[in-house]
Amino acid sequence: MKGIVFTEFLEMVEERFSLEVVDGIIERAALPSGGSYTAVGTYPVEEMGRLVGELSAATGAPVPALLHAFGKHLMTRFTQGFPRFFAESTDALGLLERVETVIHVEVKKLYPDAELPSFECTREGPDRIVMVYRSPRRLSDLAAGLIEGCAEHYGETLDVAREDLSGDGQAVRFTITRGGGT
Ligand code: HEM
Repeated sequence: MKGIVFTEFLEMVEERFSLEVVDGIIERAALPSGGSYTAVGTYPVEEMGRLVGELSAATGAPVPALLHAFGKHLMTRFTQGFPRFFAESTDALGLLERVETVIHVEVKKLYPDAELPSFECTREGPDRIVMVYRSPRRLSDLAAGLIEGCAEHYGETLDVAREDLSGDGQAVRFTITRGGGT
């Protein structure tokens, strides 16, 4: 997992909680990297699992809620760091449709060792898309937060229904409807 994901995560923890909480979770997670990340480095995804687990233990917030909140935070940072992607789409569904075909393709060019999920995207009408998330890293809670962050960026309300297709989080179907309808 890219260092940028870790540095953004620790920044969110500092913002929402405190620097003491950051230091505490890094210490308790006993990370091979020691917890010093550079944005362009690459680190084992297990370190993220441990950091989120320790944050959950320290704050009492469940891991899925923390990953969801982190997804929203990360999307805010992406809108600042990659404004071009957001300018190329006029709405949230349009952006989400381009994650697999354009955005993550560009990300892979920038960071060849990035470990990205795959999304199978189907347009079901002017106000609905279906995205099937697939990844051995099982980060669909993060994906849900990123989707919500996207809706916020475009000032839209999206209804996001989720179904675990594989039973273990490696394949998850998101049915995303604009306007909060059904
Ligand atoms: C401008 C928009 C976006 C940018 C720049 C971006 C970039 C990235 C980057 C750099 C990573 C880390 C790869 C690694 O650590 O090796 C990542 C992972 C990921 N991205 Fe995106 N992304 C964007 C939009 C989205 C959206 C809208 C979604 C959800 C629909 C999404 C879903 C994910 C997920 C779930 C991961 C975690 C890895 C995994 O699940 O296997 N991304 N993305």
